[in-house]
Amino acid sequence: MALAAALAVTAPVAAEASPAPPHADNPFAGATSYRNPDYAALVDSSIARTADPALRAKMATVKTYPTAVWLDRIAAIYGGKPNGDRRSLKGHLDAALAQKKPGKPITATFVIYDLPGRDCAALASSGELPLTAAGLARYQREYIDVIARTFRNPKYAGIRIVAVIEPDGLPNLATNQADPECAQAKASGIYVDAVRYAVNKLHAIPNVYNYLDIAHAGWLGWDTNLRDTVALYTDTIRGTAAGLSSVDGFVTNVSNYTPLAEPHLPDPGLPVGGQPVRSSKYFEWNPNFDEADFTAALHTAFRAQGWPEGIGMLVDTGRNGWGGPNRPSGPSASTDLDTYVAESKVDRRAHRGLWCNVSATGLGQPPQAKPQGHPHLDALVWIKPPGESDGASKYIQNPEGKKPDPMCDPEFVPPNAGGHKTGALPDSPLAGHWFHEQFTMLVRNAHPAVPA
Ligand code: GLC
Repeated sequence: MALAAALAVTAPVAAEASPAPPHADNPFAGATSYRNPDYAALVDSSIARTADPALRAKMATVKTYPTAVWLDRIAAIYGGKPNGDRRSLKGHLDAALAQKKPGKPITATFVIYDLPGRDCAALASSGELPLTAAGLARYQREYIDVIARTFRNPKYAGIRIVAVIEPDGLPNLATNQADPECAQAKASGIYVDAVRYAVNKLHAIPNVYNYLDIAHAGWLGWDTNLRDTVALYTDTIRGTAAGLSSVDGFVTNVSNYTPLAEPHLPDPGLPVGGQPVRSSKYFEWNPNFDEADFTAALHTAFRAQGWPEGIGMLVDTGRNGWGGPNRPSGPSASTDLDTYVAESKVDRRAHRGLWCNVSATGLGQPPQAKPQGHPHLDALVWIKPPGESDGASKYIQNPEGKKPDPMCDPEFVPPNAGGHKTGALPDSPLAGHWFHEQFTMLVRNAHPAVPA
C-alpha cells in the first residue's frame, strides 16, 4: 500500500521531467490521432435527424474518425460563444492529452488559416484580416504568437502537433495573378511574409510538424504550374530561419474533391481516337489526374530542388471518394476521346475547377498513416471536416468576414469552367457551418463504403 501510494505521487513528476520525445520523420507513423469532440457533436446532430438505421450506424462510425481543427480566426483560439461554442485551442490540446494512451504517441492536427487578405481568388472564405501591413501585424501578434505560445506549453510536449499551413495561400500566388487581390497579395509580399512568420514560429517548437498546403492536381498539376509552384515554395522556405528543414512536408487536396486515384485512367498518354487522354477537354493537357500522381510528381520536383528526402506528403481524402450509383466500374468503350474520359473518370465534376459543396461527392479513404502503395505519403488525413460547408451563395450576416460566393450557387455558370454550372448543392450555409444535407450525401456516396 505504502509503496503504491509513493509511486502514485512520484510517477507524474518523473514523467514531466523526461525529455521531450524526438522529432519524428513521419508524425503519423505509430501514432493514434485526436478525435475532435466538437466534430462528433456535429455528427450527432445529423444522427438525430436521420431515420434510416443503417445510415445512422455509418454516421456513428464517421464520428470516431480524426478530423483537423481549423483555427480560422483569432476568436477560434479562445473558443466559446464567439466561436460557435467550440473548444478553445487549449481545450483541444487538453482533450488530446486525455485521449493519449500511455507510451503511444498521438497527433493533433490544426489548420493555420487566417492570412491577411485570405481567399484572395474567391469570396466564400474571406477572412477577418485585411491585406495590409496592419493586418499582417495582427496576424503575427494576435494570431501566430498566441498559437505558438499555447503549443509551446511543456504540458503538451508529448503531443505531435501537426500544423497545416494556410490552405489556398501560396497556391493563389502561383496561378491566380489575373485576380487583382491575389496580385496584390503577391506584390505586397504579405502572403509570403505571413507564411514565413508562421513557419519560423512553429518550427521552433520541437513537437510541432509543419505541412504547407499545396492545392491539388486539378489546380497545380500542369507541368508549368508545378514547376513554378515548386520554385515559389522553395524560395519562400529558403527565406526562413531554418531554411528547407523548417517544413516537414506538404498537404494536398485540402477541402477539395480530387480523387486519390483515377483507377480507369492510369495513363495520361494513352491515345484514344488518336489523341492522348491528357489532351481531353476535361484534363486540358494536365497530366496529373489524381492526388497519388500529383503528390509523387511534387515529391520528385522538390527533391530535385534540394529538399530533404524525408519531405512527406499528406492528402485530404475526406470528400474525394466519389462512390455512389454513378461511379464507373471500368474504362469506357468509346473511341471518342471526350466521351471516353467522361465515362471513365470517377471524379464526376463537370470541370475540375468546381469546388463549392459539389454534388454527388462521397467520403474518401478513412484517415490512415503510411497508406499502402504510396511511399511518399505520410498519411491520408481528413482536414476539411466532412459536413462543414464550403460557403454560401446568398448574403448571410456574420462576424467572420465571409461573403456570398457565386461558386456556391447551383445556377451560376462560372467563366472558366467550360460553360458548366457549378454543381453546388442548393441552400448551403456559410463556410465552416454544418450542412446536414451535404453530410448525409457524403456518407451515402462514400468510397470505400463506411462500415456500419
Ligand atoms: C472554410 C471556412 C472555415 C472553416 C473551414 C473548415 O474554409 O472558411 O471557417 O473552419 O472551412 O470547415
